[in-house]
Amino acid sequence: MTQRYSGRVALVTGAASGIGRATVLRLAHEGAHVVGCDVDTAGLEATGKLLAHDGYTATLLAADITDPAGVQRVVDALPGGDIDLLANVAGIMDHFLPVTELDDDTWEHVLAVNLTGPMRLCRAVIPAMRTNGAGAIVNVASIGGLTGSVAGSAYTAAKHGLVGLTRSLAFLYGPDGVRTNAVCPGGVNTGIGRTATVGSQWAFDRLSRSSARAVRTADPDEIAALIGWLGSPEARNVNGAVITSDGGWTA
Ligand SMILES: NC(=O)c1ccc[n+]([C@@H]2O[C@H](COP(=O)([O-])OP(=O)(O)OC[C@H]3O[C@@H](n4cnc5c(N)ncnc54)[C@H](O)[C@@H]3O)[C@@H](O)[C@H]2O)c1
Repeated sequence: MTQRYSGRVALVTGAASGIGRATVLRLAHEGAHVVGCDVDTAGLEATGKLLAHDGYTATLLAADITDPAGVQRVVDALPGGDIDLLANVAGIMDHFLPVTELDDDTWEHVLAVNLTGPMRLCRAVIPAMRTNGAGAIVNVASIGGLTGSVAGSAYTAAKHGLVGLTRSLAFLYGPDGVRTNAVCPGGVNTGIGRTATVGSQWAFDRLSRSSARAVRTADPDEIAALIGWLGSPEARNVNGAVITSDGGWTA
């Protein structure tokens, strides 16, 4: 591993599992001081043990990104308020529910986790990044943020919203040195199946026509590698990019 994050601070949501955990591990190995959060305390503990096994540490906090107080607690854990990279990774699926079978609670929760939480984190850290004249935000969207053919209506709308938020921030804050990019994975081998049980058989069957085109399932570290690169100075000219990492699923 290079030490390109040496002396740098990264905030990673979804740190207890999948892509978020892989991002915490990768950034810590590359020298970052990582502040990670999640609602899954057992998963956070497991992430901490994986770090400790290799001689690394991170600040891992139980916090719900749908709760403004939770967001504030995580931001307060940044040493001296400093931040170089915000990786908005936490996310949930929507059980493939089409809008005609969607209840308000599911819609609101999926948007709260996948869009409003990331917005609040961006809003909280951008002032420090502007003051420093540098900072990177990486939002983990999905190919469901680019097409209507891989998830239910709420997830698709939330991830399209996250792509739009990414472009807005890139345009508005890029001139101040704050780069914002989005990563759109296809299938990744993580714990997201918990929120991807089939809620509507006909919608799932229709969506399966798209998933039949998926070529491979990625390892979480393959997405973490892209996040790490986007957050690093090597990507200093990349702002407002929406990058798929789907093995060619949507090609
Ligand atoms: N796995 C895939 O196939 C895939 C594909 C495309 C996009 N993504 C996106 O990747 C991101 C990471 O997902 P993953 O696949 O690693 O899934 P995962 O379930 O393994 O990890 C997501 C983490 O987010 C946490 N989380 C959920 N709600 C939260 C909240 N309110 N506050 C804080 N943390 C919360 C979960 O506890 C979990 O640890 C998500 O945004 C997801 O939409 C995943």
